[in-house]
Amino acid sequence: MSDGQPPTADAALEPDTLIDVPKTPRPPGSDGALGPTGRPLPHFPTPPQLAGHGPARIIAMCNQKGGVGKTTTTINLGAALAELGRKVLLVDFDPQGALSVGLGVPTHELDITIYNLLTERHHDIRDVIQHTTTPGLDVVPANIDLSAAEVQLVGEVAREQILARALRPIMDDYDVVMIDCQPSLGLLTVNALTAAHGVIIPLECEFFAMRGVALLVETIEKITDRLNPRLQIDGILATMYDARTLHSREVVRSVVDHFGDQVFHTVVSRTVKFPDASLAAEPITTYASAHPAAAAYRQLARELIARGGAA
Ligand SMILES: Nc1ncnc2c1ncn2[C@@H]1O[C@H](COP(=O)(O)OP(=O)(O)OP(=O)(O)O)[C@@H](O)[C@H]1O
Ligand SMILES: [Mg+2]
Repeated sequence: MSDGQPPTADAALEPDTLIDVPKTPRPPGSDGALGPTGRPLPHFPTPPQLAGHGPARIIAMCNQKGGVGKTTTTINLGAALAELGRKVLLVDFDPQGALSVGLGVPTHELDITIYNLLTERHHDIRDVIQHTTTPGLDVVPANIDLSAAEVQLVGEVAREQILARALRPIMDDYDVVMIDCQPSLGLLTVNALTAAHGVIIPLECEFFAMRGVALLVETIEKITDRLNPRLQIDGILATMYDARTLHSREVVRSVVDHFGDQVFHTVVSRTVKFPDASLAAEPITTYASAHPAAAAYRQLARELIARGGAA
């Protein structure tokens, strides 16, 4: 449940790492203060409420490297967008089901999941969608059944477009659909990238962060070329940042050197609040609403909207 407490011991470990919400509004880049990515940190204003909902923009959360913060970012960015009044659907596209579990869905008790949507044509996605405790935040759950889909879909006609087709009926009901990919570049991830308008690539701030990113970018380019010309990289997100270590700062610098303005100004610090929130099956925005880690994902939501990555 919400602790509603100000940051305590854990936060003390991460003093100025986080680009917190500015106390007073200022125009873009006005004070020139450098953010953790080494660039002047713009102000990302709270966007106006939307007059209506849809059509959705689809974002794939993708990195074939494991444990970089894909699921954590899908849940918490989704919750932060929902706080801004956006209608958000999260799609669990990993047989491990971590996204579903992290939102309190009892995956082993489900009769139908994303697996059935993909493999049996007669299902409607609306029968699979579950509401979460966060208003405006819904989820299409997955469980271990999904691990069979990759093999089963290989022989299907238009096998790369099956997820896009499954999502079509609800496109006007949501503002953002976010797909939490598994750590692989297999057919399921190709389906996510084929359905998506944009990709967010989370990178953990450690030595091998960039390993495999070239292959991911190449895969994205191939999909743009052959299957989904609208696909673009919405941003690269540095996660598990620790401002106390030179190492973390160097990783962020090299990522910015490489990807320039594709790197989000928002950086997510390393804090045990994230695993804690997963255990509590809640987004950080309600589990520890006042913690800087919640502020980071709120800022990311505003930054994404400011960049045009969401309505
Ligand atoms: N900023 C953070 N600080 C500390 N721990 C974090 C942070 N972000 C994620 N974690 C933890 O790191 C682990 C991996 O995160 P997560 O599951 O989001 O990564 P993933 O990329 O989805 O992994 P996988 O590739 O296995 O699906 C989880 O235990 C999560 O709670
Ligand atoms: Mg995951």
